[in-house]
Amino acid sequence: MASDMTSDTFLASKKISDEIKADLSVNPQKYTMLTGDRPTGRLHLGHYFGTIRERVRLQDEGVTTRIIIADYQVITDRDTTEHIADNVFNMVVDYLACGIDPAKTIVFAHSQVPALNQLMLPFLSLCTEAELLRNPTVKAEQEASGHALTGLLLTYPVHQACDILFCKGNIVPVGKDQLPHIEQTRQIARRFNERYGQVFPEPHGLLTDAVEIPGLDGRKMSKSYGNAIALSATAEETAKLIKKSKTDSERFITFDREGRPGVSALLTTAALCTGRTEEEIAAEIGNDGSGALKKYVTEAVNGYLAPIRERREELAANPDYIREVLAEGNRRANEIADATLNEVREAMGMVY
Ligand code: TRP
Repeated sequence: MASDMTSDTFLASKKISDEIKADLSVNPQKYTMLTGDRPTGRLHLGHYFGTIRERVRLQDEGVTTRIIIADYQVITDRDTTEHIADNVFNMVVDYLACGIDPAKTIVFAHSQVPALNQLMLPFLSLCTEAELLRNPTVKAEQEASGHALTGLLLTYPVHQACDILFCKGNIVPVGKDQLPHIEQTRQIARRFNERYGQVFPEPHGLLTDAVEIPGLDGRKMSKSYGNAIALSATAEETAKLIKKSKTDSERFITFDREGRPGVSALLTTAALCTGRTEEEIAAEIGNDGSGALKKYVTEAVNGYLAPIRERREELAANPDYIREVLAEGNRRANEIADATLNEVREAMGMVY
């Protein structure tokens, strides 16, 4: 269950995820994708290669696609909503610049869809305190935050169940760390259906095949580590960031993730942006050293991001359009959420 992601549980999830992937292009109409991001800053290359690219692929394959900007999740582990409106705005810009098409994908903000949030009350009744407390990802986030465990952080996997189930999402592209939440969502759906009648699907996680793109220092790419290349950074800012990234004193370039995290992170970044392998690039640079490697990576990243950044600028120059896209996404999400909440009321006999 949601307690421990033993390797057996992981392997089972991976197997189902692979089966769904094989079926997606054959039967895209069977699937509804829901996933999203917390608007805590700008999206970066880690988001792009980790999930955004996959969302665009699903959208273009004909899967029903919804993206939630999880603004309430910002306050799960921090105590301010500073810059939130700016972050939400830029998140929409980033999505569209990457190829999310608002005619196909509903993009909406969590706080703007009251009926989605109202699912929280019946759903909370379907979880025990012990189940909530043993979610390993919640524990890890609480420890990293250095704050006491808030009620919101403890229950955010239940919010995510609301996010996924309000639109009857049945596939959720996620990283491994979110698998316990998917398990909790499945349990909530199952228990609701058992008690009140069939309303919700039991969703599955869609695990990404992409290698996790490391940050410039070899750790996970994250804005808070200062090792992330934002999609919205300029070519000059990108060059500067790569230039000051830490490599090592060995001149000859080789790919060795454990032994040479800095050099290897650069190689993986270049590999993702060029479609070549790390080994190939390392062999080509060889004795030219880390200066040449950094130059190569800078060109690879800036070349890859150039069209995205160009679209980004055009979009950001038209803020009314961006706000319209979000307003329309919110409107459509509300329609879906209202319909689902009505079904829930009916199933529970709460129609007066
Ligand atoms: N927790 C996710 C993150 O931090 C964002 C998110 C919110 C989400 N609701 C979701 C992801 C529902 C998948 C499904 O990035």
